[in-house]
Amino acid sequence: MGFNDDLNDKDMKKIGLFYGGTSKGSTYKVAKKIQEALGKENVDLHDIAKSSKTDIEKYTNLIFGTSAWGVGDMHRDWEGFIDEFVEVDFSDKIVALFGLGDQKNYPESYLDGTGTIFCRLPNKENVIGFWPTEGYTYYYSSAEKDGKFVGLAIDEDTQPDKTDDRIKQWVEQIKDKFK
Ligand SMILES: Cc1cc2nc3c(=O)[nH]c(=O)nc-3n(C[C@H](O)[C@H](O)[C@H](O)COP(=O)(O)O)c2cc1C
Repeated sequence: MGFNDDLNDKDMKKIGLFYGGTSKGSTYKVAKKIQEALGKENVDLHDIAKSSKTDIEKYTNLIFGTSAWGVGDMHRDWEGFIDEFVEVDFSDKIVALFGLGDQKNYPESYLDGTGTIFCRLPNKENVIGFWPTEGYTYYYSSAEKDGKFVGLAIDEDTQPDKTDDRIKQWVEQIKDKFK
């Protein structure tokens, strides 16, 4: 059974999913799974390395994803883009975030790339899809705010078996909030 079996695709507006990286391919893999879960026809996938500010401006509904790199950083492709990104007018947009990290080897900076994207977003009140921290073991994450992650937290290094369920639940949580 596919994730999108019970989605009412007709009612969904296009979503632009911009992913950063991906050096080992995991962020891309997760981006594809999210696209599938939301219905392929509802989501355009964009590699952030090949995207510009105008690509983001086209969408009201946005999903941004990055892996965490170099202890607390976003993937370098996001680093190269983030200054342009903050010039976008996000006031009428709906934004959801997802991130990848390795909580076992980077417990002091788990999912920090996602925390940085959230920090740099000019309109944080438009962010949907906060995610519980239960089921993760780490010491510190800049992606944690008020006891929740600012977006879907994936760990393909140490909890790959949980990824599909997490995506499914998260998509259920966010799909009706896009406009
Ligand atoms: C050099 C290096 C630094 C990393 N730094 C972090 C980090 O600070 N926090 C974290 O949660 N994960 C960190 N990771 C783990 C990656 O984010 C994780 O493996 C991710 O799934 C990679 O995604 P990708 O294949 O799309 O590049 C690091 C991995 C490497 C190799």
